[in-house]
Amino acid sequence: MASVLLYWGAVVVLLAASAPTSSSIPFVVLHGIGDECASKGVSQFTQLLGNWSRSEGYCIEIGNGVWDSWIMPLQQQADVVCEKVKEMGELRAGYNIVGLSQGNLIGRAVVEFCEGGPPVKNFISLGGPHAGIASVPLCGSGILCKLVDNLIKLQIYSDYVQAHLAPSGYLKIPNDIPGYMEGCMFLPKLNNEDPSERNATYKERLSSLQNLVLIMFEHDTVLVPRETSWFGYYPDDNFNPILPPNQTTLYTEDWIGLKTLDDAGRVKYISVKGNHIKISQSDMRKHIVPYLEENPEKLMLKLPMKE
Ligand SMILES: *[C@@H]1O[C@H](CO)[C@@H](O)[C@H](O)[C@H]1NC(C)=O
Ligand SMILES: *[C@@H]1O[C@H](CO)[C@@H](O)[C@H](O)[C@H]1NC(C)=O
Ligand SMILES: *[C@@H]1O[C@H](CO)[C@@H](O)[C@H](O)[C@H]1NC(C)=O
Repeated sequence: MASVLLYWGAVVVLLAASAPTSSSIPFVVLHGIGDECASKGVSQFTQLLGNWSRSEGYCIEIGNGVWDSWIMPLQQQADVVCEKVKEMGELRAGYNIVGLSQGNLIGRAVVEFCEGGPPVKNFISLGGPHAGIASVPLCGSGILCKLVDNLIKLQIYSDYVQAHLAPSGYLKIPNDIPGYMEGCMFLPKLNNEDPSERNATYKERLSSLQNLVLIMFEHDTVLVPRETSWFGYYPDDNFNPILPPNQTTLYTEDWIGLKTLDDAGRVKYISVKGNHIKISQSDMRKHIVPYLEENPEKLMLKLPMKE
């Protein structure tokens, strides 16, 4: 009887702690290329997730948004975010990351490289070019885009392009792997690809995520190949076949802890309908929101079972 009373006491305390306002940890949204926190799409996305999960959502801007997402090297973009998350007291107890497209590589760099940053719990990735891309999407028709598109036509692994075109940091041309390994300044480091520079700390940090949710878009025409959203990619020196994630060397040799996470059941491979990051509201509720909310019912169900 006494233990029953104690048990109910615990439930009441839990309810009291979680009922009035949100008790869940905040989340941070990192937008994609050519976008900004102030855009209607990104701000609505952040608000909807916040409203549904009852957690605070923050979109973190890098430089001026649209333009810097094209021209600031990704390591530098990640350094900006690293400094910002360290300054945000709201994140001190930990936070979740929701990445859109290129924003996923920045987010992953924050997890792997950010010294002394607050802990990242869940990482939800929408259309992330995690294993690289085999062609850069064209920027468009504006004057600035003409500049960018001309850069794309230059030597992509040259120091100049690497310093002035963000996507060159994850362009992995399957039939120029030596050029990529030597000249690409960002993705080889992020994915611990170079055997002489592999760093166990990056792996340890990524493997400490609670969940890594990898959302791929079935009709993605921006990412080549779309399977890169799951860490699938071409084999070295060939444009086919597209290897599933667990047949890549990154996975089998566990360079960044993807296999470790997967073996622990903490990688969720999700495929949804739609083109690049065009997620429906029902898929947002189904595949993102559950990782952002601290569900008091679940907590209550777990406690008595342990006793
Ligand atoms: C989120 O909730 C707030 C407060 O209720 C509301 O003003 C806002 O319109 C909602 N945002 C979206 C995108 O539905
Ligand atoms: C690996 O990365 C950590 C964190 O950035 C750093 O402190 C350490 O010196 C690196 N180790 C090697 C061998 O480069
Ligand atoms: C790779 O993943 C697929 C899909 O989840 C699974 O069916 C297969 O057994 C896995 N293969 C290996 C070698 O683990």
